[in-house]
Amino acid sequence: MDLGLRNKRAIVTGGSRGIGFAISQTLINEGAAIATCARGEEALQSAINKWRAEGATVYGNSVDVSNSQAFEQWFHTAIADLGGLDLLVSNVTSMNTFHGLERWKQAFEADLLQHIRATELALPHLLQGKDTSIVYIASIASIMTANMPTETEYGAMKAALISYATQLANKLGKDNIRVNLVSPGPIYHENGFWQSVEKHQPELFKRAEAISVFNRLGTAQEVANAAVFLASPAASNITGVNLRVDGGAIKTVNF
Ligand SMILES: NC(=O)c1ccc[n+]([C@@H]2O[C@H](COP(=O)([O-])OP(=O)(O)OC[C@H]3O[C@@H](n4cnc5c(N)ncnc54)[C@H](OP(=O)(O)O)[C@@H]3O)[C@@H](O)[C@H]2O)c1
Repeated sequence: MDLGLRNKRAIVTGGSRGIGFAISQTLINEGAAIATCARGEEALQSAINKWRAEGATVYGNSVDVSNSQAFEQWFHTAIADLGGLDLLVSNVTSMNTFHGLERWKQAFEADLLQHIRATELALPHLLQGKDTSIVYIASIASIMTANMPTETEYGAMKAALISYATQLANKLGKDNIRVNLVSPGPIYHENGFWQSVEKHQPELFKRAEAISVFNRLGTAQEVANAAVFLASPAASNITGVNLRVDGGAIKTVNF
């Protein structure tokens, strides 16, 4: 199936590793040009060098999405480099190490507001295009109450993101902009959260495997496949969907 992504212009936040890397790689494989960012310069540059060596059109600089001014500047540069924008994949999460209410304030900034900031910056450009779309990376933590490896604010911010995106999908339908989400279950990847859990908390890792009907964690590529499909013109009649990529972990009927 042709996803219709050749020469599309995409911004993917957090493309230096894990799910964001897999989404960027998959978009590139489908012929899209991308701009991506991360805080860490080294991993980002190494990813960009790899993609450029493969002949891809890729732009990227180190920036913190929580820094509104710096991110806005980065975003405008990315749009100028790409020559416009067709797709936004808002992927970043940054776990914080604060406590109490400060933790919630940081989570609000780094796990929710930055997605809305990216959206506000993207919309004027998406409105000019054809077959344009937004995909957010949420989490099944938004609806789980047990076996959680994360603190409460993480799931709460993801739940807010799902509600926001679903309302946005309805609002932007008249402009032909599609809005969807992917909610991964536990995903194993190099230098990722679950690789560290495997090493330091083997019992928790086993529990995470067991919530999947396949008794394993998912891969970044499995999330990327879903995200890139939803972002692509091949999903032209799909909007307002929160697609779980969780190996059947959530035991509810998905009407
Ligand atoms: N992995 C899982 O099991 C899992 C499960 C459910 C949902 N998800 C969701 O999937 C998405 C990606 O997860 P992941 O496991 O791939 O995460 P990850 O391994 O932590 O990678 C996150 C990416 O975003 C960048 N990043 C983090 N904070 C940033 C910031 N403040 N500004 C700019 N870039 C930043 C990271 O690079 P730097 O650190 O260098 O900035 C990295 O490139 C997240 O939304 C996460 O909540 C993941």
